Amino acid sequence: TWTMANFIETEIEEIRRKVGTGKVLCALSGGVDSSVVAVLIHKAIGDQLQCVFVNNGLLRKGEAEKVVNLFTKHFKINLDYVDATDRFLGMLDGVSDPEQKRKIIGNEFIYLFEEEAKKLGQVDYLAQGTLYPDVIESVSTKGPSAVIKSHHNVGGLPDKMNLKLLEPVRELFKDEVRLLGKELGMPDEVVYRQPFPGPGLAIRCIGELSVEKLDILREADAIVIEEIRKAGLYRDIWQSFAVLLPVKTVGVMGDARTYEWTVALRAVNSLDGMTADWVKLPYELLGSISSRIINEVKGVNRVVYDISQKPPATIEWE
Ligand code: XMP
Repeated sequence: TWTMANFIETEIEEIRRKVGTGKVLCALSGGVDSSVVAVLIHKAIGDQLQCVFVNNGLLRKGEAEKVVNLFTKHFKINLDYVDATDRFLGMLDGVSDPEQKRKIIGNEFIYLFEEEAKKLGQVDYLAQGTLYPDVIESVSTKGPSAVIKSHHNVGGLPDKMNLKLLEPVRELFKDEVRLLGKELGMPDEVVYRQPFPGPGLAIRCIGELSVEKLDILREADAIVIEEIRKAGLYRDIWQSFAVLLPVKTVGVMGDARTYEWTVALRAVNSLDGMTADWVKLPYELLGSISSRIINEVKGVNRVVYDISQKPPATIEWE
């Protein structure tokens, strides 16, 4: 019979057999899939695994610290942490087009990852968190269909780098990967994480980016997540986050006029990200998110709730 414990045992043997005394490189995103893959491979081959985690300056509040802590302190995995904030934000300076943002971030990530890989010397395998749905999608539906958004993850890496692939969860679905993570002793915070796009906050900070705007968005987003968690809804919602609009509106604070940014709140339910509906969040929760953002985040005086379905809207605003 198929059990998760059996799966782990079989995969560990398989990884050891394949890799031998070779070296495996894994790009961590902080998401569930790459995290679980890293921990599984580490269990199999220990220090023959080298992880790389790039902070592109577009991560959420506290995210980089959490990833570094979990992997180095808790799991004792070799981790090369690269803070490339300035490099990414420099490349994105003055860019407002969503697809342009994605392209820049995707390419920059590949350059950087290649540079880091070179520094690390001989590498034999590239580990990837490919799931079964990705496998099916890439053989059956990657036709000439219109590109709505050029979603990127680390999928472009192996071709360019001439490395063999190690994809130990390619036969699993998302919910199975979560179970695997639990079985491997990973914290719920990682295992049940809502999806987060590769281009990160860049596509949630509408229009041109700036350090100030990204900081505002980061603070607002942290409040959204905190309140959703407090309400016990985090795991029931596909994605919930803040979006910073390039719109200033008039408000009043004490007896002074304010003229500040607008934050949009987005919370959707979805099975696979292809279609989505907005979540009917309780009014009290909407109220507490709104007043906390307006009171605690400097530079924001208005919060609105996005009640659009996908389609025709998309989940992200860019
Ligand atoms: P949309 O906005 O197209 O998003 O309805 C569908 C799902 O995909 C995520 N998303 C991305 N993920 N790179 C990613 O890795 C991207 O460029 C990207 N754009 C959107 C989005 O968060 C949602 O889960």
